[in-house]
Amino acid sequence: MQEILEAILSGASTDEFASLPIPESYRAAFVHREEQGMFEGLASPDKDPRRSLHVDEVATPELAPDEVYVAIMASAINFNTVWTSIFEPLPTFGFLDRLGKESEWGARHALPYHVVGSDGAGVVVRVGSAVRSWKPGDRVTIHCNYVDDQDPTAHDDSMLAANQRIWGFESNFGGLADLAVVKANQLMPKPAHLSWEEAACNALTNSTSYRMIVSPNGAPMKQGDTILIWGASGGLGGYACQFALNGGATPVAVVSSPEKVALLHELGVEHVIDRKAAGYRFWKDEHTQDDSEWRRFGKDIRAMTGEDPNIVFEHPGRQTMGASVFVCARGGTIVTCAATSGYMIEYDNRHLWMKLKTIKSSHFANYREAWDANKLVAQGRIQPILSAVHPLTGVGDAALSVHRNEHEGKIGVLCLAPSEGLGIDDPEFREKVGEDRITLFRRHGA
Ligand SMILES: NC(=O)c1ccc[n+]([C@@H]2O[C@H](COP(=O)([O-])OP(=O)(O)OC[C@H]3O[C@@H](n4cnc5c(N)ncnc54)[C@H](OP(=O)(O)O)[C@@H]3O)[C@@H](O)[C@H]2O)c1
Repeated sequence: MQEILEAILSGASTDEFASLPIPESYRAAFVHREEQGMFEGLASPDKDPRRSLHVDEVATPELAPDEVYVAIMASAINFNTVWTSIFEPLPTFGFLDRLGKESEWGARHALPYHVVGSDGAGVVVRVGSAVRSWKPGDRVTIHCNYVDDQDPTAHDDSMLAANQRIWGFESNFGGLADLAVVKANQLMPKPAHLSWEEAACNALTNSTSYRMIVSPNGAPMKQGDTILIWGASGGLGGYACQFALNGGATPVAVVSSPEKVALLHELGVEHVIDRKAAGYRFWKDEHTQDDSEWRRFGKDIRAMTGEDPNIVFEHPGRQTMGASVFVCARGGTIVTCAATSGYMIEYDNRHLWMKLKTIKSSHFANYREAWDANKLVAQGRIQPILSAVHPLTGVGDAALSVHRNEHEGKIGVLCLAPSEGLGIDDPEFREKVGEDRITLFRRHGA
């Protein structure tokens, strides 16, 4: 890997990269199949990713014809790595075993370990025999939609394909490693004005938020809309706020601390609610919701914007869905992609049907959507929301801070990159976009 790193740092040519040997093993972060029962009996908050995530050498898998090896300079933590590392709601080895039965190439994935990570930026070092559009030496970011083209439904929207998976979560050989195996149709050009870690933190949550509120497959928003955004300084919310602002909508952001309120004001979000300070108790007890608290929340939003939100950006799930359905405007859309606080959802259906509201589901993004979301980053219209950076050996600490909701935006992880700030190929454009805008979350995180 050292030779590959030196080639990257010295800007080697395609031929030079193509002639470098691929190492037989590489450093990676993974969970062990034999440890999948290690947290049995513990409550979720007590399950510590530092105990389950290991960093060590793993064997390099063979390359399928439609795949590439990417030398990973940096990656990022996503909530799915938290799920994998606490083995909730299910251990991910079942996904790998299912993929293992799918084909000869799929069989490589069913291993005693699962290399995690669903984001990455780096350099292509080898391409499979069927790869046409990419070559060794290309600087790339990776989106996590892992899908092939042999299912007819994939040709309408690849998120509908029966064998659609999330790379590094439902497949092996993920991005929290020095090397990754990805399909060529996961690659996108690295935004030239960003460092490796700034480029690595966007694809998963930026593309997800793009599909949820910008793409026709999502809500979608239009100029003048009011969008309620839960977790607005988190991985999804930090991009959703930017899409709302860029698209002429009014975001109403919900967060849980005065620091996060200040961060979002600096991002340009005028209406921010601190849910902890407001003390909303949407649930009286474990089984009963309190509609007077939904009303209080709705009034607070109206007092800020003069109207109800016609789009609600949902992902906390059980704790918030009742309130989300209630406060959404008549005819509006609640778009959901997750259920962090619990997936058995309850809401009052009368507020949905009598006011003709829609609940719309969304999951990651197809290649087109991920590509378009990446283009907005490359154009400097969407900024990375990187707030902290850990070395690969600190992946457990990084996952723990996301598990405990102690972070803002995204947490980056340096893989091959020896330090932060490398990989900026277009400093002039960076200056034009503005260092302050690009590093807003990083400065807050510090
Ligand atoms: N389907 C998909 O394609 C997809 C893609 C990405 C992520 N996800 C899922 O979406 C969820 C969020 O991901 P993320 O990357 O944005 O995570 P994140 O960075 O942890 O941000 C989530 C934010 O949600 C807020 N939140 C958490 N629990 C809450 C509760 N009970 N009530 C209200 N707000 C709460 C927190 O903000 P405050 O404390 O500041 O309010 C937190 O910062 C995760 O479950 C993840 O697995 C799904």
